[in-house]
Amino acid sequence: MFITLEGPEGSGKTSQIPALNAFICARGYDVLVTREPGGTDVGDQIREVLMNLKNISIVPRTEILLFQAARAQHVEEVIRPALAAGKIVICDRFGDSTLAYQGYGHQTDLETLKYLVNYATGGLRPDLTLLLDIPVKDGLKRKVDNASEWNRLDAYAEAFHRRVRQGYLTLAEADPERWAVIDATQSKEQVQKSMQQAVLDGLP
Ligand code: TMP
Repeated sequence: MFITLEGPEGSGKTSQIPALNAFICARGYDVLVTREPGGTDVGDQIREVLMNLKNISIVPRTEILLFQAARAQHVEEVIRPALAAGKIVICDRFGDSTLAYQGYGHQTDLETLKYLVNYATGGLRPDLTLLLDIPVKDGLKRKVDNASEWNRLDAYAEAFHRRVRQGYLTLAEADPERWAVIDATQSKEQVQKSMQQAVLDGLP
């Protein structure tokens, strides 16, 4: 089973992963936790290029292709082998991040992006996607309060992040079978509970 976590900046998804991992492991499943961009040596190097605040000259098309390059490597080297070995894979961000950030955020043609994501993943799709939804102001405030996490993409205008959030909600609404929308303004414990419930509903 392939589970992805998505959300706007500061949604707290990354900090929820260890408890979710423990919850699934406790039910006897073998779990692999990974993240995008990154998850492989090559992917981590691409991540550094994408996140580095000094790379302000990166144009949207370059950004799109770098994300897909990291993803192609990740799918081939890490995700597919883990799924083939019967593991549950939890991935912090996946193709929907490209649709939300590059598609809705940068207003790039969605059909082109879907094609590129599909090319990068070789058609691999998540079985379950948890969207940790948070209003833009709350999410960015969390990030500003934790300045070490600030990256090049966070520095985009607030209107960009509003489009990202709305984009996620639109994607989730279009495919409710795959998406579970979780209110990330709840307490950390309550968010975890909601995530666990969504996973339980989908476990094989
Ligand atoms: P994060 O690891 O803190 O979630 O940061 C990853 C950043 O990269 C975040 O700003 C979202 C962005 N991103 C994209 O814009 N497109 C993508 O396809 C992926 C995977 C991430």
